[in-house]
Amino acid sequence: MRTHYCGQVTESLIEREVAVCGWVNRRRDHGGIIFVDLRDRDGIVQVVFDPEQSDIFETAEQIRNEYVLHVTGRVRPRPEGTVNPDLPTGQVEILATALQVLNESQTPPFQLDDEDVHEETRLRHRYIDLRRPFMQERIRTKATVGRVLRNFLDSHGFLDIETPILTRATPEGARDYLVPSRTQAGSFFALPQSPQLFKQLLMASGFDRYYQIVRCFRDEDLRADRQPEFTQLDIETSFMNEDEIMSLMEDMICDLFVQVLDVMPEKPFPRMSYADALHRFGSDKPDLRIPLELVDLTGLMKEVEFKVFREPACDPDGRVAVLKVPQGAALTRKQIDEYTEFVGQYGARGLAYIKCVDTAAGASGLQSPILKFLPEEVIAGLLERTGARDGDLLFFGADRKQTVNAALGALRVKVGHDLGLVNPGWRPLWVVEFPMFEWDTEAKNWSALHHPFTAPTCSDPKELLENPGTVSSRAYDLVLNGTEVGGGSVRIHKAGMQAAIFEVLQIGPQEAQEKFGFLMRALDCGMPPHGGIAFGLDRLVMLMTESQSIRDVIPFPKTQNATCPLTDAPSPADEKQLKELHIRLRPGTQ
Ligand code: AMO
Ligand code: AMP
Repeated sequence: MRTHYCGQVTESLIEREVAVCGWVNRRRDHGGIIFVDLRDRDGIVQVVFDPEQSDIFETAEQIRNEYVLHVTGRVRPRPEGTVNPDLPTGQVEILATALQVLNESQTPPFQLDDEDVHEETRLRHRYIDLRRPFMQERIRTKATVGRVLRNFLDSHGFLDIETPILTRATPEGARDYLVPSRTQAGSFFALPQSPQLFKQLLMASGFDRYYQIVRCFRDEDLRADRQPEFTQLDIETSFMNEDEIMSLMEDMICDLFVQVLDVMPEKPFPRMSYADALHRFGSDKPDLRIPLELVDLTGLMKEVEFKVFREPACDPDGRVAVLKVPQGAALTRKQIDEYTEFVGQYGARGLAYIKCVDTAAGASGLQSPILKFLPEEVIAGLLERTGARDGDLLFFGADRKQTVNAALGALRVKVGHDLGLVNPGWRPLWVVEFPMFEWDTEAKNWSALHHPFTAPTCSDPKELLENPGTVSSRAYDLVLNGTEVGGGSVRIHKAGMQAAIFEVLQIGPQEAQEKFGFLMRALDCGMPPHGGIAFGLDRLVMLMTESQSIRDVIPFPKTQNATCPLTDAPSPADEKQLKELHIRLRPGTQ
């Protein structure tokens, strides 16, 4: 019944009879003639209803926005002066000869071309929001991305293999979503935070190369680039080391960018150690498009009178660093106060600054409330280290290393965007040489920086147990323009080392056996050396479509508080269901 998509009706079809289906984007009445912009997933075409065809004209008078139509007609050139060069179909129109209203529509809750609709409203009426051309474009790009990645992996011998969704906890650092079992009273499945353990078992089974585009579930605090359920491109291979895996993944990402965006990021992707990334950019996912770096002043500030700087400079766990803002001396008091408030969100207790007016004049050419606390030679040293020029501003962070890095790292990105310093283009980066463990000061124990199946660089479990704090892992994260889009590692393939890791993490032998016994047995039954990676597909598509939020590339996402306004999920369960699941709610929870 349909011969063409609306967007396909172009000059090549002039004088042809076509049939199109779609939604009324807009109806205009012009002195007895009715124009309808008909929209489908391919574009918009103008349909003209002439009053001389009175039977269909009367129907055309009834139609409203978002009605669903089937229109047959002849394609003709638009009269001169009415051509729309911005539309692929803008040279032509369809003179309707038949019209069928397939369905009516209530007035939509928002105009499709309104760019300012509240997100809650968009999500509640997502089926309408998704009609909008920019949303269609994103969802289609996501489909293309999936197809290109699959083609690449298929052609490199990877097998698409499924793994279970109802399973046991797979620790990736978030809370689990639990599913109560009806048949095993009091027991629960966990939804996978990733297919990590299963893909390792597939290596034990000899599949050699695995991939899957797979949903993962993590109950964690949501942000613009996080969702409770999201999609990974999950990959695992046997008998490859980290260099081989990273190189293959670079080929895959470059193939993706060439095919989808027609751009080729430069290969090989640069690599940077975790320590360097934090030292230079205050972040383990630096955005290399922003040409600003932190300068360390810890050594310079050890003896200054100013306690705010001296104390962290003398503390082995402290840091004093500075961010130079080119031409930042023009910032107003109010702007500086706003930045001070901004870094406060990251725990910074202040944001000392120096405005460089006339650097040749030394201290007298600078403006700052803290100058009086800093001796001449320290000022000279900091001007030299930062290479500050007239008109620049220096922002200081002085605190525990973690706080300084978080605050100045975030400030670097914010200032970069605010002052228009972000260079265009794609800047991928491998972050490597991660520590195996982080010391959790509150819980007073070690936690794995990546998941606990990541191989350390040392091969002797004894060495690991002796120095957990200094051992690095064989992990690699792929960062793209400041977003972590992928992470992976070479894995532990020997049971002895895996047991040592559990010991460092204070997972006792009994608990390890209970939670990961199946993995330990597989490690002991001919597990090959193996490694892999997972990409956050939603994040990748978010970047590739230049969307502001991960929610814009997920057809039916959750809100900030992990609910779905469209279906009102999650929702209470009825008493009968709960009883079958052996669950009684705590008082006050319903
Ligand atoms: P990781 O936990 O780093 O590694 O996850 C891999 C990638 O998934 C994306 N991602 C997310 N995207 C959206 N919402 C979330 N809540 C979310 N959490 C993670 C990120 C991240 O880089 N099993 C390991 C991979 C491996 O070692 O092979 C894993 O899951 O882009
Ligand atoms: P104060 O002596 O507390 O008045 O601080 C003097 C200046 O140092 C102010 O501009 C504060 O914003 C700044 N400041 C205070 N604490 C810190 C800190 N931990 N890091 C950077 N600047 C700070």
